[in-house]
Amino acid sequence: MKRLPTGLLPSIALEDSGPIYQQLADWFRRAIAEGRLRPGQRVPSTRALAGELGVSRLPVLSAYELLHAEGYLESFSGAGTCVAAAIPHEAPPAPTRRLPRVVAASAALAPRPVAARVAAMASPPQTWLKSQGAFRVGVPALDHFPHAVWSRLLSRHARHVGSDALIYGDTSGHAPLREAIVEYLATVRAVHADTAQLMITSGAQHGLQICAHALLDPGDRAWVEEPGYPSAHQALAAVGAVPVLVPVDADGMDVATGVRRAPTARLAYVTPSHQFPLGATMSAARRIELLQWAARAGSWIVEDDYDSEYRYGGRPITALQGLDTDARVIYVGTFSKVLFPALRLGYLVVPKDLLPAFRAARDALDTCSPMLPQRALHDFIREGHFARHIRRMRMLYAARRAALQAAIRQHLPDALHVVGAEAGMQLTALLAPELDDIALSRRATQAGVSIRPLSPCYRGETRCSGVILGYGNVDEDAIEEGVKRLRECL
Ligand SMILES: Cc1ncc(COP(=O)(O)O)c(C=O)c1O
Repeated sequence: MKRLPTGLLPSIALEDSGPIYQQLADWFRRAIAEGRLRPGQRVPSTRALAGELGVSRLPVLSAYELLHAEGYLESFSGAGTCVAAAIPHEAPPAPTRRLPRVVAASAALAPRPVAARVAAMASPPQTWLKSQGAFRVGVPALDHFPHAVWSRLLSRHARHVGSDALIYGDTSGHAPLREAIVEYLATVRAVHADTAQLMITSGAQHGLQICAHALLDPGDRAWVEEPGYPSAHQALAAVGAVPVLVPVDADGMDVATGVRRAPTARLAYVTPSHQFPLGATMSAARRIELLQWAARAGSWIVEDDYDSEYRYGGRPITALQGLDTDARVIYVGTFSKVLFPALRLGYLVVPKDLLPAFRAARDALDTCSPMLPQRALHDFIREGHFARHIRRMRMLYAARRAALQAAIRQHLPDALHVVGAEAGMQLTALLAPELDDIALSRRATQAGVSIRPLSPCYRGETRCSGVILGYGNVDEDAIEEGVKRLRECL
């Protein structure tokens, strides 16, 4: 470490790592910002500074050039180089209030103010994410994804890329992909829409954020399922909306209670095909009740259809959007479960009259989703890989779910009470009320098993204890082993 004696400048400490010119430029910027070098103050010549520091002149020249270009330094013939006179000068803050870069994040300092709603946006602690082992929720069978096909399609578009693929894309997404999705939704989910109504998003969570930004003002009330999807709370909190907890039973959201608690709420967020986390399918009567309330109250319904591709028993359930005659439903879909979550592609189906609001909200948030994966995904669907993959995964997940249920029956018959429909990629089971599911989840993480506790999905006082077990990315042997480890943790 080399030091320049005080008197010329406050001491400069050069580290052994990192380019010298950058360290110097950084030092000057901070010394100027903190008031240790004042406007108009002369700084040493490059030759003198290089000599003092025992380094070659080149990095000092580069640093000075950079600082000139950024407006920190200026030179006058005959007067040498000075700190720019235009820099506003304030007395250096008292040392205790200074926040050096490295210490700024330290817990020793009092927290600096951020937006008040950040507290509501924060998700509950997620220790279960620390384990990659069996039953990580929300992960599809990654080793069954057709990687070779996908990389061929991606490189096809990366190689033959025209300038239209490199500029900002349409806010609503790649038109041919939108068309393909609209056809798919009409066939499989009975969703009624034309291509103009479909907006490609960067996943369902992003879709929820766009809905919240387009439809809610701070203080607006929004129905949310209790228990429900914690990230939906986060999306609502981000715009300052106030959640109204509406209980869920075996028929899905209890609409009558919602009407009693907040008859004029602006919006209802629901997962009718496969309620997250309890797994119920919303009954036909409740669906109609919900649609009638929305029409009466002039409110919106956000239908999160995150994993509807997978149903293993019972009758197929069509989307709520298809029943809607008053254009009250905004349909949210995602490719995270059918393909893979890091793809970050999903979609919204938006009532026609809301399109300008949604386009404005989307434009303000992120303009558009990345175009290259959209083009590859379009080919993936049109060439039949998408339908084939879903068919295969449906069989695979049905077998995995059956294996998980069998393992629970064999190893934990009395401890876990499985609830919900035969659908999706996760299974929820209730524990005896006296068992602490968060503590269990922590123990499971240490044992290499990822158990998502149920109780943090509740926001009210009354909470059930339980576990959410993802089986999408766990093969059958690992399922049995995981259940045995869970038994040990219990
Ligand atoms: C109910 C629900 N909605 C939305 C999502 C988010 O999906 P995405 O990855 O597309 O943001 C999930 C993910 O697990 C989910 O469980």
